[in-house]
Amino acid sequence: MPAIVVVGAHWGDEGKGKVIDMLAEQADFVVRYCGGNNAGHTVSNPLGQFAMHLIPCGIFQPHTICVIGNGVAVNPAVFLQEMEMVEKAGVTTAGRLFVSDRAHLIMPYHHLLDGLDEEARGSAAIGTTRLGIGPVYTDKAARIGVLVGDLKDAAVFRSRLRLALDLKNRIITQVYGAAALDFDEVYQQYSEFGRRMAPYITETGTMVRQGLSDGKLVLLEGAQGTLLDIEYGTYPYVTSSPTSAGGAALGAGIPPTRITKAIGVFKAYTSRVGAGPFPTELLDATGDLIRERGHEYGTTTGRPRRCGWFDAVAGRYSVEINDFTGGALVRLDVLDGFPTIKVCTAYRLHGKTITQFPSHLAELEACEPVFEDFEGWMAPTAGVRRFEDLPAAAQRYVRRLEEVLGCPFTLIGVGPAREESINLRPLL
Ligand code: GDP
Ligand code: IMO
Ligand code: MG
Repeated sequence: MPAIVVVGAHWGDEGKGKVIDMLAEQADFVVRYCGGNNAGHTVSNPLGQFAMHLIPCGIFQPHTICVIGNGVAVNPAVFLQEMEMVEKAGVTTAGRLFVSDRAHLIMPYHHLLDGLDEEARGSAAIGTTRLGIGPVYTDKAARIGVLVGDLKDAAVFRSRLRLALDLKNRIITQVYGAAALDFDEVYQQYSEFGRRMAPYITETGTMVRQGLSDGKLVLLEGAQGTLLDIEYGTYPYVTSSPTSAGGAALGAGIPPTRITKAIGVFKAYTSRVGAGPFPTELLDATGDLIRERGHEYGTTTGRPRRCGWFDAVAGRYSVEINDFTGGALVRLDVLDGFPTIKVCTAYRLHGKTITQFPSHLAELEACEPVFEDFEGWMAPTAGVRRFEDLPAAAQRYVRRLEEVLGCPFTLIGVGPAREESINLRPLL
């Protein structure tokens, strides 16, 4: 059986949580492969509504094994809180939730430095979630990271922490003039986390690879979006891990040849949180209306999301990078009451029309969207369960998006709940 990756197609918050929650019914494993608790994946199912930051959204399907892969940055406090939250809702985690021993730990100095780095950048701030994501992946590359597996061995953990904290404290005090962190305090706190997490920590790669060999279906849960990918995104306004399909094999601990399908999650318009170019952003009443109707406020930070019309130039780039075999188009219902809906199919750059997403930030910043107008459907879609029952204008909108993206949709979302969906083709 194959591994199938689910990836955010734009700048995050597309609705990956809902899609994973639905697809997990058919999966044996759900593996998160990138990011950390900067992710906020909303799931709305018969057990309740949940904002998931770290634990895979497959956790609500009792038969599914959930894995936090080696590519994820793990904040142990968030892991333990989230575990308690789902347990309270009646979900069993023992024996079916695992954390890779190779995953890196988000330490208190990562958290602190994320804020200090952002402040120091001034007007060039990235608008990060300030949860320590940039600093933890920096340490991973600098080879001074502390691994989840290190928590299992007091002597190893002590020496890794000593090396890292001495260096970080020099930066915290001498570069930023802030107060140093106390070694014993951090050591005690994380040792306690380690004791509580111990039953969940293992070499997850072996488990997932064995699952694939045994014919199990593995779903790889992406976080953030393709345009926030450290390699392919709108650098430097990106996150610090590879979020696109290319990063999935690496972050989940499986060979790339095992991934046979990639599903892109799009929403019916586009949003972005944090700084950076966003050609279709609407800084007017229409943008405000999309934000209000779509409740576009960050799941993790509560920040208002920047909203705009569907950017098909960026979307096509995402299709190309990930080679999506299918897409999920969610939040169609949010556009129900708009008399005119626009789709950006090209950009105007220095007097020329272009259809390729520019790699150079200054060029992207200079791009003006070229829009195609669509008549709105001005009717509720939340109760619709079959494509042919959608208003004709909504059907035209969906079909045109498939055409401009060059990607067929397998699923359409018309509401946050699991059942508020229209299946167009077999999902997996
Ligand atoms: P993620 O980070 O990609 O998982 O997306 P978020 O959870 O951050 O944001 C997506 C939001 O859209 C959440 O509040 C979901 O409950 C909601 N949502 C998902 N699908 C739909 C849909 O089809 N219609 C509506 N109205 N909301 C949806
Ligand atoms: P989900 O998985 C939307 C954005 C931040 C910021 C940039 C870098 O819910 O789609 P970071 O804290 O990662 O260093 O911030 O990335 N960002 C997200 N935006 N959804 C997310 O996750 C995001 N995770 C990070 O707003 O612009
Ligand atoms: Mg989100």
